[in-house]
Amino acid sequence: MKKNLYINTIGCQMNVYDSEQIAKGLKTLQYKMTSSIEKADLIIVNTCAIREKAEQKVYSFLGRLAGLKRKKPALMIGVGGCVAQQEGKKILERVPHLDLVFGTNAIGRLPDIVKVIESKRCRIVDVEMSEQIEELNFVKQGHDRGKTTAFVTIMQGCDNYCTYCVVPYVRGRETSRDPENIVQEIRCLVESGVREVTLLGQNVNSYGKKEGLCTFPELLRRVSDTDGLLRIRFTTSHPKDLSENLIFAFQGLEKLCNHIHLPIQSGSNRVLKNMNRKYAREIYLEKVDKLRQTCPEISITSDIIVGFPGETKTDFEETLDLIQTVEFDGLFAFKYSDRPNAAAARFLNKISEQEKKERLQQVLDLQDRYTTKKNKALEGSIQSILVEGLSRKQNRMDKPSRHSDIQWTGRTSTNKIVNFNRINEDIARNDIVPGQIVNVRILKAFSHSLWGEPVSAKPISFGLRGDESYVA
Ligand code: SAH
Ligand code: SF4
Ligand code: F3S
Repeated sequence: MKKNLYINTIGCQMNVYDSEQIAKGLKTLQYKMTSSIEKADLIIVNTCAIREKAEQKVYSFLGRLAGLKRKKPALMIGVGGCVAQQEGKKILERVPHLDLVFGTNAIGRLPDIVKVIESKRCRIVDVEMSEQIEELNFVKQGHDRGKTTAFVTIMQGCDNYCTYCVVPYVRGRETSRDPENIVQEIRCLVESGVREVTLLGQNVNSYGKKEGLCTFPELLRRVSDTDGLLRIRFTTSHPKDLSENLIFAFQGLEKLCNHIHLPIQSGSNRVLKNMNRKYAREIYLEKVDKLRQTCPEISITSDIIVGFPGETKTDFEETLDLIQTVEFDGLFAFKYSDRPNAAAARFLNKISEQEKKERLQQVLDLQDRYTTKKNKALEGSIQSILVEGLSRKQNRMDKPSRHSDIQWTGRTSTNKIVNFNRINEDIARNDIVPGQIVNVRILKAFSHSLWGEPVSAKPISFGLRGDESYVA
């Protein structure tokens, strides 16, 4: 009998990958993904504990499920991911209509756990951690047809213990997957239509070091040998471990996209030291220079935390100064949030909520100037776009109106979103398909996306349609 599975994923890309593995695992029990929560026989919330707000989201979502469970007592509800790992059975105690709590290392065991709950209607908690990577036999299933991009986790956990961060406590010790398994998984994804992979780890630069596997740049080379794969991205790079070899990979590996996410967190050396980040702003700036010398087109994005305990006005100004010096292509900025296990929760001189709010706004306003400037600089240029699909934002009033009923969407190598119209229905129908690289002339820059028109579509000779090219 077919059963319906609804997954709500909160948190980072690693959780997106994990949710895909959860869905693949539960397929073996005849569960099929649904986008309708009312139709679900099993609801799973894959959770994030990085900031208090993310954690609150979990409880408010679970609260809303109480009514559904009353209406449909056979419904099973499970909580997985980082909050599950952190709170364990406390969540079962707090949420009476919950059937299951499973931690970040329990995904491989999930099908067996769900089978037991189905037959015995008992409540289960599995938050056991392991330092060994368990290779899931269902990762080799590829993706549902139609997906052009995919995440692939290459390592789990983190050993860095930045003082604000919960990840080492909820994801365990840093452990890298065997390169052969990663390459095989990517081959399966490509066979199912994927053209771009993003390799995931909390600090990909230290991939394989502990286990004596290959280095990260070597892994990139091996992945890049995959026939049919067009693009490779990775995240996240810890600035302390960003090696020259990795910087050179941007020059040497054609499939590696011209984008690096390099979280700085703060522009103040005093704060960086208290955060246990193990680099100084000067080192960070040197690495940025080196990246730009090696690959002038590279786009650089970053993360900033404002209002870390003890962050003075002068410290904060150093962060603003760093943003002005680097001119990032994009920035994720967060208000510091106390995390129960993380060391900084016990630090003195906490910054008030109001002050954090104001500092965050200043960072966002400043960065907006650079994001817009960088996007504007692309107007008139021709960019190679990997087409991901039809744009969700159709018929936007601020776009040129010609043929704006259907838009394609994709990204530049530098990870900027580009939407473009079908310039001619027949051409679009015959030539542009998801998974294809199309050259697009950028006509207009917006704050978070670009708008353009296709000038040529490169033929691709495998799998998907689109083997005729045209020049408009
Ligand atoms: N491994 C990555 C970060 C993963 S967490 C790295 O080292 O860069 C993603 C981002 O969340 C971090 O870069 C940081 O900016 C933010 N973050 C983590 N813990 C936080 C906390 N306690 N409060 C606010 N932001 C936090
Ligand atoms: Fe957290 Fe630091 Fe590890 Fe990143 S490197 S996951 S910020 S402890
Ligand atoms: Fe959140 Fe866990 Fe990712 S805490 S950011 S889902 S590793």
